[in-house]
Amino acid sequence: MRDFEPAKMKRVPFTGIRRVLEKANKLEAEGRKIVHFEVGQPDFDTPANIKEAAKKALDQGVTAYSSNYGDIRLRRAIAEKLERMNHLKVDPTKEIMVTCGGEEAVAAALFALLEKGDEVLIADPSYIPYSSLTKIAEAEPVYVPLDEKNGYCFDLEKLEAAITNKTKLLILCTPGNPTGTMMDEESLRKLAEICCRHDILVLADEAYEQVLYDGNKHISIASLPGMWERTITVQSFSKTYSMCGWRIGYLVAPAELMRIVVRAHQTVAMNACSFGQLGALEALTGPQDSLYAMLAEFDRRRLLLYNGLKELGIPCSRPQAAFYLFPDIGEFGMDSFTFAELLLDKYGVATVPGVEFGKNGENHLRISYATSFEDCQMGLHRIAQCVSDLRKG
Ligand SMILES: Cc1ncc(COP(=O)(O)O)c(C=O)c1O
Repeated sequence: MRDFEPAKMKRVPFTGIRRVLEKANKLEAEGRKIVHFEVGQPDFDTPANIKEAAKKALDQGVTAYSSNYGDIRLRRAIAEKLERMNHLKVDPTKEIMVTCGGEEAVAAALFALLEKGDEVLIADPSYIPYSSLTKIAEAEPVYVPLDEKNGYCFDLEKLEAAITNKTKLLILCTPGNPTGTMMDEESLRKLAEICCRHDILVLADEAYEQVLYDGNKHISIASLPGMWERTITVQSFSKTYSMCGWRIGYLVAPAELMRIVVRAHQTVAMNACSFGQLGALEALTGPQDSLYAMLAEFDRRRLLLYNGLKELGIPCSRPQAAFYLFPDIGEFGMDSFTFAELLLDKYGVATVPGVEFGKNGENHLRISYATSFEDCQMGLHRIAQCVSDLRKG
């Protein structure tokens, strides 16, 4: 048989998160108690009012295809939310497209806008699919290292130095996965100026825009001067409303870009789940107390783990958003895979090796606190044991 795998797919690895999860599940099946710090989704159920709205829609027969752009009632509610929370005034008939999660929105944008020869600026470390999707689109990822000293935000000089005449698009993920940090307004304004000066597009992945702490405010780069016409903004219901399995997100872009991107979405997905969209409508228009309760609980876990790691003398940026910590484990002289494996095998704590998110993520672990407070306590205790054993030699 011929080798049917094209060269572009040979460059796309399986994600290591899956490998960690499989191993953790195997250990659990053998009777071990595993602390799950590897999972990137809230551990809360979807709020009841949202589930009820989707059930009602099902009972009322909302089971047909919806418009490729999504149910107009949901798009209108999204437009209202974008104006209120993101300072974006958007035409819901042409500039919003509901997608199968934020992930499909990112994929549709990259597949529709990129071609061979294009270069895409991607933070290192960053969310794993950016690089894979860029490669599948046959464009070239150009990695811009993020510096811990800079709060894991772009060093704008390094970023500008990476721009060439082939650079078409920058992927911006703030608040960031895997680091839990976010760019401040001044840096975003400077970044916007660079994008305008070099005439490049921005794909702004804002999946965590509402999972914020310490009074931080999220700013959508599309709302800054000169940016609306060159920005594709992606937001999602997954993390904000604990709706990861529903697969509902959306993409916001000026009509000129939307008419390009909608054709990728139309061809691949047609539309997001029609009755699920009515659940999403309730998420936006119904009571928000479950969201506030979830954020308060995340905050409790964040402070427990952040302070705990600090007490152990493990360097770690204070997370400002999302539900991740990205501690530096360089002291132990092991690569992040070996360290994560040791932590899982011997101490029963599953984490994601930092190198999974890019070369520059080496010597780090991603710890997700989307698991119960009690498990966070247990996980911290086990990490303390591991650190103490390693320091004793
Ligand atoms: C930064 C980031 N963007 C996008 C997604 C995709 O989310 P969804 O497709 O569930 O909206 C994730 C999921 O983990 C993420 O971390």
